[in-house]
Amino acid sequence: MRLFENKLIYFKKIYSLFVSVFQEQNHVQNRLVFAANLGHQLLTSPTGISRGRFGGVDYEARIVKRGYRKSVDDHFKAFAPSECKAVEFDDFGVLIVFSKPTNVTIYDDNWVLDAALKGLVKAFGAVFLENVYLSDKQREDGQKNIFPSLAFHVDRGKFFDNQYSMFVRDPKDPEQHFPRKSGTLIVSNRAAVLQARKEGKGDIDLGARHDLFTGENVEDLFDSVILHQPWAADEGVGEICLFDNRTVLHASYYKDKQGGYKIGVRYLF
Ligand SMILES: [Fe+2]
Repeated sequence: MRLFENKLIYFKKIYSLFVSVFQEQNHVQNRLVFAANLGHQLLTSPTGISRGRFGGVDYEARIVKRGYRKSVDDHFKAFAPSECKAVEFDDFGVLIVFSKPTNVTIYDDNWVLDAALKGLVKAFGAVFLENVYLSDKQREDGQKNIFPSLAFHVDRGKFFDNQYSMFVRDPKDPEQHFPRKSGTLIVSNRAAVLQARKEGKGDIDLGARHDLFTGENVEDLFDSVILHQPWAADEGVGEICLFDNRTVLHASYYKDKQGGYKIGVRYLF
């Protein structure tokens, strides 16, 4: 009998070791390791597009706004853009679309943003992922928010260490399963400063909230000055948006004055 108990304990230990190794591997596998080289691939691609496979799933990545700095220069040429020293991006935003629903690990147990994604955010200002979902454990993290339309702001003041915002549309959430009626707008710090100058607001404090573009048709600027995340992928398609509050401002955009549901929010280190 004692021999049987000892064997049982032995097998239980082997089993738990196997499970922990599998979980660790799974955790590592779901990190978007290809993102470490993606910036270089996108910048050297003649089309600004890179395709590959991740965990057996095809993905396509592209730069959302190639030549963003020049585009901002052209749009605000009457407001001395070359003299504005606020943060700017040569190319703005990276969108990665998966062909099938894909489980992704964006941050670790200490809420630290994955290094490869952090590199992409640093180089391109914002990263958008489509057809992705989080682990069941991470689905429960964070809070849900929505802001008034066109109120540009940062989520984290400069004294916080967790400066990365992560917005999540969770395909398993009964509300977020469906496309949202309102989007998220993102502009570089420099574009925000220049727009404020254009509106006669002077050189704004980027840590405060500012109503910008309210007198314009913002959709005319989606091709040039403003990044637009519409949260409008098909029913059941999960979406994630990442950016650094030190380099960009963001706002909600209520098309047709409809606010839509609150989006999931995490602040990462
Ligand atoms: Fe916000």
